Amino acid sequence: MIQKSTIDRIMEATDIVEVIGEFVQLKKRGANYVGLSPFANERTPSFTVSPAKGIFKDFSTGKGGSAVTFLMELEKFSYPEALKWLAKKYGIEVEETVEVPENREEDLRRESLMIVSAFAAKFFHEAMLETEEGQSIGLSYFKERGFTAETIKKFELGYSPDQWEAFTGAAIRNGYKEQFLVESGLSVKRDNGALFDRYRGRVMFPIHSFTGRVIGFGGRTLKKDKNVAKYVNSPESEIYHKSNVLYGLYFAKKAIREQDNCYLVEGYADVLSVHQAGVENVVASSGTSLTTEQIKLIARFTKNITILYDGDAAGIKASLRGLDMILEEGLNVKVVLFPDGHDPDSFVQSKGSSAFKKHIEENKKDFILYKTQILLKEVGNDPIKKADVIREVVESIAKIPDSIKASVFIKECSGLLQIDERALLSELNKMRTAKAKKEEQQRQQQNNRFAEMPDEPHFFDEPVELEPHVAKDDAFQEKEIVRLLLHYGSRMIDWDGIANTYIGPFIIAELSDVSFDHPVCKQITEIYRREVENGVLPDEAYFIHHKDKAIVDLTINMLASKYSLSENWYEMHRITVNDEQVNMKATILGAIFHLKKHKVGKMLEDLRTQLQKADTEADQEILLNQYMRMKKVEKSISDFLGSVIIK
Ligand code: CTP
Ligand code: MN
Repeated sequence: MIQKSTIDRIMEATDIVEVIGEFVQLKKRGANYVGLSPFANERTPSFTVSPAKGIFKDFSTGKGGSAVTFLMELEKFSYPEALKWLAKKYGIEVEETVEVPENREEDLRRESLMIVSAFAAKFFHEAMLETEEGQSIGLSYFKERGFTAETIKKFELGYSPDQWEAFTGAAIRNGYKEQFLVESGLSVKRDNGALFDRYRGRVMFPIHSFTGRVIGFGGRTLKKDKNVAKYVNSPESEIYHKSNVLYGLYFAKKAIREQDNCYLVEGYADVLSVHQAGVENVVASSGTSLTTEQIKLIARFTKNITILYDGDAAGIKASLRGLDMILEEGLNVKVVLFPDGHDPDSFVQSKGSSAFKKHIEENKKDFILYKTQILLKEVGNDPIKKADVIREVVESIAKIPDSIKASVFIKECSGLLQIDERALLSELNKMRTAKAKKEEQQRQQQNNRFAEMPDEPHFFDEPVELEPHVAKDDAFQEKEIVRLLLHYGSRMIDWDGIANTYIGPFIIAELSDVSFDHPVCKQITEIYRREVENGVLPDEAYFIHHKDKAIVDLTINMLASKYSLSENWYEMHRITVNDEQVNMKATILGAIFHLKKHKVGKMLEDLRTQLQKADTEADQEILLNQYMRMKKVEKSISDFLGSVIIK
């Protein structure tokens, strides 16, 4: 448990734009920031952050909340984990009272895997720096490869002793459970049940999540033997999914955003050498071909990828097609080749940092032009081959979502391919039409869910219907009360000359005889009542940062939605959203009495059922009397509602 005072300090220090900005590229729009949803695949930004309110709202998935909620959603952190992450970022010391792991079992398993991975990274790092074997074998290897002490420390490089259970033994002695040693792949289980170290005698590269926690390892052998796998990597686990990890991203993300470009290399060594040379915006796909998830990960920070290839032509041709995927995501791709069998690592280590940067500047080529040139080399005079090349190139161009950008490439490629620009354009249009048709079909299928999505996201400025069916929602009157409490609770209102009162306590007092049915509305109004009784006026932030997720969710929805009360009523009284505040009295009274009317309606319904069941005349008479009285109440509420137009 983290102490309340510490939580308050963390919340105070937290700048939601800064926090979310670490994961999503945000652009300022008006008072808010917008970006592409990290939770969905989208081209039009619908993800909005309001710094003033300290909340975000993702209109494509409906997720929303505070910086804490964001971290919980994105990183799958538990509540205390998210707080600790923020505390670390803002240099706040966390005093925990008691460790109460009340999380779901899955959270605990993930956390256990992360903890054992962190222990392992530390073990390998220390085994390298502090043991004789580690120094003479592991450390000297890294030094030979030109890595400085600083790089070794920053990336937590290590060495796994060449013994069967040096690590496993230490882990067991330190109380780590066998289950997690095996699941993380750090230890391997023999048929007879005994455990042994997976990475014996290898130098270790810990792999960090992009929030900086160790989630896996790559272990490189130091043997020249061709029969030994050069790298042994962590198996897939609950915390390590190879396809959505980029080696080095945690150390690169700041530079990627600043430089608005990400260098992509192949191996661990490339990342380390290039980073060490002062080019910090570098990540590796770690030997696999790039996945869409990895591209999306990069796209959160920049729209520009520069791929640094070693000069091995066969590999390049094979990977050309994979790069179309990057274009499809709307990113710009450049390519740089290195000469004479050099990879980025060997080039920068042998020629130095400035020669490396110069080489990049002088040799970077746009991917499409580069692809065209490579393919053209093989065509010679063969017209059929040439037609194939043209189709392949246009196929790539067709993947570019931005049509202006695409037309620039058409122009340039028409020069390279020596073919009329119009011919290329017509080819392009054919492909685009086909693609659009296909997309349209898919859209039709998804229509129900996404048709209501606004093209341009708005946040609090204009009505956005988050819950299109809210009018059918049985709890909409209750939600409307919550919305008004959150929006206007701490404002004053003047009741025709009577002393000014706060809206929140007024609503609460007016509804003291009403019991809420919707569980979260009930909770919020009860909390509100309690706080008011203690002389506190809880504001939005109070509920946004509440530790109960259901409360946070409803709060966010109510803050982001303009109204939930029957729109007819607003229309009838000519209350548009913009003047709901001008007609504050009508808004407040309307909401209160609509809720009362709804409750009365329910009571009447209840009485009618009871009446049908009542078998004695006496019972019937009592019920009938109650019914008539209620009916009168209902009528007077209706009359009242009909007359509430306060200018
Ligand atoms: N790789 C792997 N398993 C292998 C070989 C390679 O996982 N058996 C991955 C590693 O992530 C490696 C990357 O592919 O970093 C690139 O491979 P390679 O160029 O062979 O390795 P380098 O990292 O360049 O290693 P070194 O420079 O030390 O030879
Ligand atoms: Mn290499």
